[in-house]
Amino acid sequence: MISNLLPAGIIATGSYVPPRVLTNLELESMVDTSDEWIRTRTGIIERRIADSDAATSDLALAAARAALESAGVDAADLDLIVIATVTPDMFFPCTASIVQQALAASRAAAFDILVGCTGFVYGLATVGSLIASGAYRCALVLGAEALSKITDWQDRGSCVLFGDAAGAVVMAPVEQGHGILSYSLGNDGSDADALKIPAGGSRMPASEETVAKRLHYLTMNGPEVFKFAVRSMTESAEVAVARAGISMKDIDVVIPHQANLRIIDAAARRLNIPYERFIRNLDRYGNTSAASIPLALDETVREGRIHSGDHILLSSFGAGLSWATMVLRW
Ligand code: UT7
Repeated sequence: MISNLLPAGIIATGSYVPPRVLTNLELESMVDTSDEWIRTRTGIIERRIADSDAATSDLALAAARAALESAGVDAADLDLIVIATVTPDMFFPCTASIVQQALAASRAAAFDILVGCTGFVYGLATVGSLIASGAYRCALVLGAEALSKITDWQDRGSCVLFGDAAGAVVMAPVEQGHGILSYSLGNDGSDADALKIPAGGSRMPASEETVAKRLHYLTMNGPEVFKFAVRSMTESAEVAVARAGISMKDIDVVIPHQANLRIIDAAARRLNIPYERFIRNLDRYGNTSAASIPLALDETVREGRIHSGDHILLSSFGAGLSWATMVLRW
């Protein structure tokens, strides 16, 4: 259990997905794949794709506005904006600073978190601590991705998986006994090569050669990440639940990272939590990296499936390879 000076929690959620739907059937005409393979191997049926002139901050802004409206909070009252993303508008300034300007959140500090699919939960843990310490009172935490911009549309092993989306939450001090109860964050850098964009950074700066070799797109060893995902989700959930001082049967809703239905199924079996408590929306959105958990959380909240006092488990894995699992009491 985390001993907070001030309990920090989520007071409202919001999300946004671009209107353009890309179906498995359309992908059949782009790469050597089939609707049947994608459905049975991943559970994905369709995903959303941002317009060619849209950037991550555009998606983030729409999700931020939805969360602020739901919270009844004016952007001018925000102390902090944090965006988890692996698809920033550009290297710098950070995407949070672009969103801060667009929201006219003039008092807010702003920074990005670049971890990967786990970034949103890392963001909740970081901002939760800043609120618990009393440093900040009202913060916006987002996961936002325009993954279609870094997807290699010639690589059938990865391009069928990803989609674009943004999710946002407003965080603030909450009632005693509510909010963030515990988390387990971690990283195993020994498998860092399993999921990366090889070029464009300081190790391999952009050149004609890196562009010709398609090294600015996401590359992935799918089966390696799959094995890591099941193991890390299960182990980190056990750690986080124990740290919260509760047991698995007390978990009312699980919001897992939406990467592959088979990963969620395997984690559900190992954790012995009833399957119907696992939220699944990857059939409609695919894997939206850092946006996947806040998007699913927002949908679940808006469907009225989360009630005050419920224990919520958020569980994610991704590049690093990293994991981030959190227990909240709503
Ligand atoms: O957010 C974190 C990011 N990443 C992930 O979460 C990914 C985790 N990994 C996965 O979800 C799965 O590993 C994948 C869905 C990526 C792949 O599924 P898999 O069951 O592990 O398949 P595989 O990579 O072992 O490939 C099996 C076969 C191969 O053909 P051969 O060598 O057996 O003839 C692949 O070439 O499936 C083939 N294949 C495809 N076939 C049709 C790979 N992608 C496709 C495709 N369509 N899109």
